[in-house]
Amino acid sequence: MADLKAFERECTEFFCPLWPGEDKILVFGDGNSTQPPLMLIGEAPGEQETLKRRPFVGKAGKNLDHFLEVMGMTRDSIYVSNVVKIRPTERSSSGRVRNRAPSREEIALFLPFLMKEIELVAPRALVTLGNVPLRALMGGRATIGELHGKWHTASNGLPLYALYHPAAVIYRRELTQVYEDDVRALRDSLTIQTQK
Ligand code: URA
Repeated sequence: MADLKAFERECTEFFCPLWPGEDKILVFGDGNSTQPPLMLIGEAPGEQETLKRRPFVGKAGKNLDHFLEVMGMTRDSIYVSNVVKIRPTERSSSGRVRNRAPSREEIALFLPFLMKEIELVAPRALVTLGNVPLRALMGGRATIGELHGKWHTASNGLPLYALYHPAAVIYRRELTQVYEDDVRALRDSLTIQTQK
């Protein structure tokens, strides 16, 4: 889509000079960018996403495949993106580069671009994965523990369904069933809406 290409160029021109010499790679959204039924929004790309320049292709991508299977959807039928479009990293004490949560500053810098991206893609509904996109779209005090598995209204007026972040589901086994129930409830609510 021409507008989305222009958006990506604008984003690159804005962000690349912010980290001179760091060779930061921007990972843009992917999938059906023309009024998809759902737009999934994650936190930020990880190592695999940055290597492949595609969101949700690492460990969290397996979880996305499961989501699509339950929903009866394909990756091409929905649009997938992240709030922050660079991989936030830090060095461990042994000097290894590892992922970290995006900072408030990074989220604030990328948020206007996410809002523009949503406007261009014009999804029917948003699905947030974890606290970062949930707070970005619903305000600072929203928490996934309280809002998961239900429909809400995002700051731009779109319907928003909150899911746990795939990484939280990987690390906190007790969330596996909760996540499963939430995805099934989402599927059932969409089925009911399309039958109306
Ligand atoms: N991969 C992504 O693209 N986003 C996330 O939030 C996590 C993994």
